[in-house]
Amino acid sequence: MSNKKELLWQSRFSEPFDRNALLFSSSVHVDKKLYREDIEGSIAHVTMLGEEHIVSSEDALQIIEGLREVKEEITHGSLIPHWEDEDIHTVIENRLKEKIGPVAGKLHSGRSRNDQVATDTRLYMRRQIADLQKALSGLLGVLVKKAETYRETIIFGYTHLQRAQPISAGHYYLAWFNMFLRDRQRLQDLLKRVNISPLGAAAFAGSTLPLNPRRTAELLGFDDLFSNSIDAVSDRDTVIEFISACSVIMMHLSRFSEDIILWSSYEFGYLEISDAFATGSSIMPQKKNADIAELVRGKSGRVYGNLMAMLTIMKGLPLSYNRDMQEDKQPLFDSAETAIESVKIFSKLLEHTTLKEERLAKLTAEDLSLATEIAEYLVGKQIPFRDAHRITGKIVTWSIASAVNLPKIPLETLKEFSAVIDADIYDCLKPEASVNSKKTHGSCSFDSVAAQLKEARKQL
Ligand code: ARG
Repeated sequence: MSNKKELLWQSRFSEPFDRNALLFSSSVHVDKKLYREDIEGSIAHVTMLGEEHIVSSEDALQIIEGLREVKEEITHGSLIPHWEDEDIHTVIENRLKEKIGPVAGKLHSGRSRNDQVATDTRLYMRRQIADLQKALSGLLGVLVKKAETYRETIIFGYTHLQRAQPISAGHYYLAWFNMFLRDRQRLQDLLKRVNISPLGAAAFAGSTLPLNPRRTAELLGFDDLFSNSIDAVSDRDTVIEFISACSVIMMHLSRFSEDIILWSSYEFGYLEISDAFATGSSIMPQKKNADIAELVRGKSGRVYGNLMAMLTIMKGLPLSYNRDMQEDKQPLFDSAETAIESVKIFSKLLEHTTLKEERLAKLTAEDLSLATEIAEYLVGKQIPFRDAHRITGKIVTWSIASAVNLPKIPLETLKEFSAVIDADIYDCLKPEASVNSKKTHGSCSFDSVAAQLKEARKQL
């Protein structure tokens, strides 16, 4: 079966391309997403061709007009990209030819689809980086609000998923703030490498035509221009870096989701998800599930998969362009969209959660997590820390065996463990005293959280 439509590269062939081979190699269903970037890049290219008198200014204007119309047609759905056109670049050029005739053929002067697709990809990433940063800024705003609301709420801090020490809940939210802030910074740093124009590299070796790639770079808002034409068309490390940045974001979201899932369970019972963001069970009427958090956690797996796919696609590719590289679009688009949508929905979910303050106050007041306070109290009384740790361990064992919470152990009993213990020990056996006795930089006290919040707000 042979193909009826004209492809961009067929002039040397005597036989039309096999339809099954074309169907297999067509990427329109994926890369049609790049139509805006593709047209933007083409307009810049032909503007430069006109300015450099490689094409006449009338031809350039006619092509630009035509390209603008093609863009409208795709946006409004009157032109539906079809697989027989191989890729989005071909869709656009073929439609341009239908509209303005053979002059459309001048658009591709001094350009290859290799530098064209590399340009489109960078323009796409630049747009997605901006959207992702915006979504992250939204999440950072929600986290600051949470930290403000719950600065004086005491929760358990965990290590090894065991209750460790009481902390300000604000401190907990600001830990996430710092992680997502770095994610936003990572994207900003990546932008320096993404926002470089590959246009003008042509197939890989450059062009005999007097192109002005600095001009196209400027027209497209790139910060700089490629330095080596082979590198410009062959490399996809910025795509890998972008998906890697998305993976780190998803990893953070996934960990945070896990806390929300655990904390909203009956066993923990620290957090309530409002009904608007919870789901039920079709068979068990009592269920209230954290599906949104679970889906975010699950989607992180897909994004990691995309990273592995991209690394594997590029591994072992000889220089310069190889068609394998067409397979970069799906992992790239999926990672960008998944990360942006996940950050956005997660921010909303977070806004729809409340801490169960009464229950947390009761639980933290009775808990063994105050044991570190006893050890540090003993250190304050000049007991070496190792001995203090041992004495406290014995007190904890006694507390468990006698079912008496630490703050309720009578002074006479405590004195049996160490004679230096006085009535002032009860002052540190309160969660709030414990939290606020932390004096070190960036620690969990209410004052430290207030100071951290002041810094955090500057980043919003
Ligand atoms: N659809 C192709 C891609 O995304 C465009 C470049 C084609 N280049 C080529 N030499 N066949 O990679």
